[in-house]
Amino acid sequence: MQLLNASGCLDALTAPHTAAMLDGFVTKTVTPEPREGNAPVRIAETDLGMLNAIGLANPGRERFIAEVLPQLRLLGNPIWVSVGGFTTHEYAETCAQLDGCDGVAAVELNLSCPNVDEAPESAAEIVAACRDVTASRLYAKLSPHAWDIGESVRAVAAAGADGISLVNTLRGVALDRRLRPTLARTAGGYSGPALKPVALAAVHAARRATELPIVGMGGVQTGRDALEFVACGATHVALGTVLFADPDAPDRVRAELDDELARTGFVSVEDASCAAFGSVANIEN
Ligand SMILES: Cc1cc2nc3c(=O)[nH]c(=O)nc-3n(C[C@H](O)[C@H](O)[C@H](O)COP(=O)(O)O)c2cc1C
Repeated sequence: MQLLNASGCLDALTAPHTAAMLDGFVTKTVTPEPREGNAPVRIAETDLGMLNAIGLANPGRERFIAEVLPQLRLLGNPIWVSVGGFTTHEYAETCAQLDGCDGVAAVELNLSCPNVDEAPESAAEIVAACRDVTASRLYAKLSPHAWDIGESVRAVAAAGADGISLVNTLRGVALDRRLRPTLARTAGGYSGPALKPVALAAVHAARRATELPIVGMGGVQTGRDALEFVACGATHVALGTVLFADPDAPDRVRAELDDELARTGFVSVEDASCAAFGSVANIEN
């Protein structure tokens, strides 16, 4: 099992200490053009997690490749580049430009971008177009909103994905004391502890649909949480919102994971893989 960060939840260049604890660093989503992101307020805290409407703020792919990527390379981590876009063509163009760039261990296609239709056929179309132009390992990152995660997973797998990342945020709204939306754009992506059961269900459904590697994420805070993702079929686990509160979370989660293995009687993480399938006979997608 590799421990990664979730896209957008860690800036390795300003927090290299945290990045060094990870087995790979996942970048914030890169789009073709630079994006300032949405106007503030872009972050709202809720009882059990946070809402963000950052709006894919990033320097754009030209500057990312010319300026950011060389600096990330110096950190020595395998780099996973998260790629976003507003059309299939935009995703494929960025993949083509990244193809062959040193240090890029994988490309994670953020298939939950604004204006991107998340239907299985559209997700598969994007994956297929990127597959045509890159030899990089391609992970398809899916939203938990899909009605049938298994169908989406089978579609992107058939289109040539090498792995699946699950889950992105859920859409949510928070209201202030005057009952007005806290976020300037009203709705944002909901992340944090409350997402975990939703994410576990998605990973479980995905594991029933494919043997490809799965990066599980959504509300992971502790070693126990990470092990639960492994039990539901995750190959790797990513830390997101927890990193804002605890920059040492990767080392802590690893230590807790060892304790949790001892407590649950599994000899290794591999041993606990898919443990949730023994007892749960039939979970519908
Ligand atoms: C502030 C913030 C920014 C994010 N930016 C991105 C992004 O650029 N691309 C992406 O694929 N996911 C992005 N995400 C979603 C996370 O990668 C992750 O899928 C989600 O937060 C669930 O994990 P968590 O509950 O552990 O945070 C972002 C999440 C947060 C909280």
